[in-house]
Amino acid sequence: AKITFITSNNEKITVEATAGSVMELAVNNNIQGIDGDCGGVCSCATCHVFVAPEDVDKVGVASEIETDMLELADDANEYSRLCCQISVSDAIDNVVLTVAK
Ligand code: FES
Repeated sequence: AKITFITSNNEKITVEATAGSVMELAVNNNIQGIDGDCGGVCSCATCHVFVAPEDVDKVGVASEIETDMLELADDANEYSRLCCQISVSDAIDNVVLTVAK
C-alpha cells in the first residue's frame, strides 16, 4: 500500500510497503515526527498521527488501549491514531496521515 505522510514542516512524503505497521514504515523512511520510542507496543504515543477525515473508514478506529494512550497526547482529536497500531495492507492504500507535532 502507498501511504502519504504530511510532516510538521508540511512536507508530503509518499512511501510504500506491503507488511508491518505504519509506524515501522514511517521510521524506516525517516518520517520526521514519528519516533516509535516504545517499539510499537502502544505505550509511548510518539507515533501519533491524524487520519484524513475521508480515510477514517479505511483506517478504522483506535482500540481501547490506544484510546487510553491517546488521552495523554494533549492535541489528540477524533482523527488521532497511534500508527504502530495500524497494519499496512491493501485496505489502507492511498491514505493520508498528518504527523502530530
Ligand atoms: Fe509507541 Fe506507537 S510506537 S505508541
